[in-house]
Amino acid sequence: MCKTLGELGSVHHNPPLEVIVQSELAIHHIAATELRNLFPNKSGDASITVYFNEEGVELRNAAKPKHKGFKVDFLGVDRRTGAGNLSRKQPLPKAIGQSTNSVIDVTAGFCSDAFRLAMMGYKVTAIERSPVIATLVEDGIRRAKEDNEFWAEFGARFNFVRADILNGYDPEPHDVAYLDPMFPQKRKKSALPPGPIQRIQSLVGFDNPKETRALFQRASEIATKKVVLKRPTYAQELHQKPAHVFEGKLVRYEVYLQPTVT
Ligand SMILES: C[S@@+](CC[C@H](N)C(=O)[O-])C[C@H]1O[C@@H](n2cnc3c(N)ncnc32)[C@H](O)[C@@H]1O
Repeated sequence: MCKTLGELGSVHHNPPLEVIVQSELAIHHIAATELRNLFPNKSGDASITVYFNEEGVELRNAAKPKHKGFKVDFLGVDRRTGAGNLSRKQPLPKAIGQSTNSVIDVTAGFCSDAFRLAMMGYKVTAIERSPVIATLVEDGIRRAKEDNEFWAEFGARFNFVRADILNGYDPEPHDVAYLDPMFPQKRKKSALPPGPIQRIQSLVGFDNPKETRALFQRASEIATKKVVLKRPTYAQELHQKPAHVFEGKLVRYEVYLQPTVT
């Protein structure tokens, strides 16, 4: 069922990282040591800094160490319903479906999609394998939990798991498996993708078609009702005709229904 990364031809993108800690929090020191062990910066030419301070864990541009970086901020998510960010009329929740209860996001990244779905009322499990991204998400959760009211309202439906969905992690079945693999690299030069995606690309690289197909297969094993696949509008369909497609401005959500068991 689960293939090894070697079998998938996966190229783990290991960017040289610099880890700086200016925090008294024990949890930050533990996380920083773990990252230093995983990504030893022997050459000293890191382009990315993971910066720990009392306000949280940030990704910074190593060439501009004083510039403010990026951190995961669940408390800052736009909470407008109606036609706003948390409206179920948006293409993503339309693809997930009104009657869906549980969703597993098997490629959660910084959890923007996963947490937004939890805020909309779905019960969400979010899986992420990159240790750097997971460190930022876990720190975002720690800070969000400090607001008891916020976490009781939205966090109770959200569960984050640091794991590789293709290797050694076996979740329980969910109604919907959501899959947002890395986008394929465009042939032609074009506008840069949005900031969070650029950051993820710099940490984990681009789409590996073999791995994307394995992720889709794995998602199909976990989903009882459907698999929802996010693709950039310029990318081809993965391999079979989706049952439904919901178009956004730059991306589309392809819905693949699971065979019904009688
Ligand atoms: C395009 S990003 C997802 C962005 C996300 N939807 C968001 O809202 O932030 C894809 C993510 O999938 C993760 N990923 C790729 N393969 C994975 C695997 N086998 N298990 C878990 N996460 C994986 C990558 O590390 C990357 O962070």
